[in-house]
Amino acid sequence: MTGMITMAYLLAAIMFILSLSGLSSQETAKRGNYYGIAGMTIAIVATIASSMVHAYGLIALAMGIGAVIGLFLAKRVEMTSMPELVAMLHSFVGLAAVLIGWGGYLEASALMGTELVIHNIEIYLGIFIGAVTLSGSLVAFAKLKGLVSGSPLTLPGRHWMNGAAILISVILLVMFVKAGHGGSTATMLMIMTLISLALGVHLVAAIGGADMPVVVSMLNSYSGWAAAATGFMLGNDLLIVTGALVGSSGAILSLIMCRGMNRSFISVIMGGFGTDSGAVADSDDGPQGDPLFLSHQEVAEELEDADSIIIVPGYGMAVAHAQQAVSELTETLRKKGKTVRFGIHPVAGRLPGHMNVLLAEANVPYDIVLEMDELNDDFPTTDMALVIGANDTVNPDAVEKPSSPIAGMPVLEVWKAKRCVVMKRSMASGYAGVANPLFFKENSRMLFGDAKDSVQEILKNLPK
Ligand code: TAP
Repeated sequence: MTGMITMAYLLAAIMFILSLSGLSSQETAKRGNYYGIAGMTIAIVATIASSMVHAYGLIALAMGIGAVIGLFLAKRVEMTSMPELVAMLHSFVGLAAVLIGWGGYLEASALMGTELVIHNIEIYLGIFIGAVTLSGSLVAFAKLKGLVSGSPLTLPGRHWMNGAAILISVILLVMFVKAGHGGSTATMLMIMTLISLALGVHLVAAIGGADMPVVVSMLNSYSGWAAAATGFMLGNDLLIVTGALVGSSGAILSLIMCRGMNRSFISVIMGGFGTDSGAVADSDDGPQGDPLFLSHQEVAEELEDADSIIIVPGYGMAVAHAQQAVSELTETLRKKGKTVRFGIHPVAGRLPGHMNVLLAEANVPYDIVLEMDELNDDFPTTDMALVIGANDTVNPDAVEKPSSPIAGMPVLEVWKAKRCVVMKRSMASGYAGVANPLFFKENSRMLFGDAKDSVQEILKNLPK
């Protein structure tokens, strides 16, 4: 039986790897999901089949309740609220790691010598990483949901506090391992649990709202490492492999997002980063003057005259559910022989791949949906850049104003196109809360209104 279970675990691990590789491109994403589902089903069945599992009734009850809650949440959740849900789910992984760690500690163990040392280190690390993930994820959830302020908490000497928390935890680890079992080890473990819970809260509280997506992805990574530590503790190879996959893919995604937002990876791990971004608009020295406007009909006329068009969607397209209308507009323009492409910023919207998912859902052909780096150099030779509900990701200050809170963030350089039309509802700033001089550029024109209504109105005005 053990051999069968090992084989099943191996198969599940292969499925998870295939799943991750499938999820890396839009064409294969569906297949990637199926691999993931298959891998998880094999993993669950194999685990339940193990001779160590007896409480079938309890497991069925827990799985039943979990499945109902999961289905309900998955059906109800808006795409734009996905990061909150993901943050909440990470907190469950953290909680599981803490509970399993404590369970492993409280369980009578016959281990001696080196084996006991290793077991104790696994317990300790599992609880430590799990508790940081648990409390950090709950704070990230509260920030994203707007339950607490998104602005960073910058206590004086906060890096020293984090450093002290880690140092005390390391000292306690040494003491805990030396003490073996019994005695004051429970107190040490309890103190470390409290310190790591506080550390998780403090690390995430110190990060500004605009940098939250990187944090959610980092917590994803932490939750993977917590699961891997749990796998070591339980002697479960699949949990170790899966945890390592989640841990490393979360870290890679964080790295990609850091690059997209021009943040340093190290400062994310250290916490307390992005302290001068966040939701504060730099209204005092923001761009001045009056923007120029176009009507729907005028935009339609300019589109009719343009040969090459780059559409840059952002969070506003998601809010307005405009993707279907945008897809229709694209089809109409392409039928007229125009070159239409989409420029996707790595952090456009509110979750990684947000725009890609929406455009795929609206059947926009994959081959015209390009990453920022693939077409950023093409704007000067493009007739029209159509910005639909994007703001921070097209802010020229990122490259032109070194004092800007988003300075250094790579952006889609839409202002270099011959004409740039910005579709949004007002002059309001985007997620980062910084003013956008794009609206005042000589070749920029604003079109106010809900993105879906505006696109539909433009479509009506386009000669068929
Ligand atoms: P944002 O900078 O957030 O700007 C979106 C704009 O859409 C707003 O300025 C808003 O202006 C407009 N808008 C809202 N509802 C609209 C509607 N119904 N119709 C038309 N326009 C509407 O968007 P972005 O350019 O996509 O940038 C994303 C930002 O979110 C970045 O700062 C990024 O760091 C951050 N972020 C990203 C992620 C990920 S992983 N993608 C996760 C969390 C945060 P009006 O109110 O004037 O309409």
